Amino acid sequence: MRKEDFQSVAANFPDPFRLILRDSVASTNDELQQLAKDGAPHGWVLLADEQTSGRGRRGNSWCAPGRENLTFSILLRPNEAKVLWSRLALASGLALAESLENFGLQAGIKWPNDIWLNGLKVAGILVEAGADFAIVGIGLNVHTTEFPPEIAASATSLALAMGEPPSRPELLATIIRRLAIRLRGIGAEFPKLIQAVNQRCVLSGKRVVLQTAKGPQSGIVRQLGVGGELLLETRGGIMPLIQADEVRIVEP
Ligand code: BTN
Repeated sequence: MRKEDFQSVAANFPDPFRLILRDSVASTNDELQQLAKDGAPHGWVLLADEQTSGRGRRGNSWCAPGRENLTFSILLRPNEAKVLWSRLALASGLALAESLENFGLQAGIKWPNDIWLNGLKVAGILVEAGADFAIVGIGLNVHTTEFPPEIAASATSLALAMGEPPSRPELLATIIRRLAIRLRGIGAEFPKLIQAVNQRCVLSGKRVVLQTAKGPQSGIVRQLGVGGELLLETRGGIMPLIQADEVRIVEP
């Protein structure tokens, strides 16, 4: 990592965002969680060159090499009531999609917060909440062009999608700027945020199978409802899903 490049873009982060660089950590989410417990303030961004135990959703690992990609976490202490913090996942996904659009890409959001380019996953987000803070962890594939066999058919990177990607510091700065804006949308402005997510929702109109806590559900995705829930049209009517472990598209 050319630390000076990251430090110079970080100097222009919007307030109160501030960058912390690490060579190697187990997981940027875990590292920042520890700092949060020790009192670190809202807006700290921790980026690592290497994660030895990077984590994804559903207990998966995230093993994209940090040096050629972006692996970082953001510490948030939102003013909004904690019951609204589940909305951070959608706000972060939208900010990430908009950041890629800023570089001419057409990004889609696979609910709740995977980012897709050309039908393939380019980024994932892991949001974890503590007692009085939330950590938003982002993994964005930038330069990687070869993936482990288990994800090779479903993963992509900016290099694969656009040839020459923007520099990682430039990408990071763009994401932080968009996040600063979209994070404000988890309160009263949430309907506007949902509208913007719906415009990018790659699942809308698709027949899907979802593994939920109550077992598998299948149906056609309509859109996201006003609370950010996925509205699934099933034989029994419209079913709102607030949490699905895995969404698989079965028909285009
Ligand atoms: C997913 O799609 O399953 C979420 C992946 C989130 C990966 C990022 S990389 C930076 C941060 N630190 C982690 O350990 N995980 C997140």
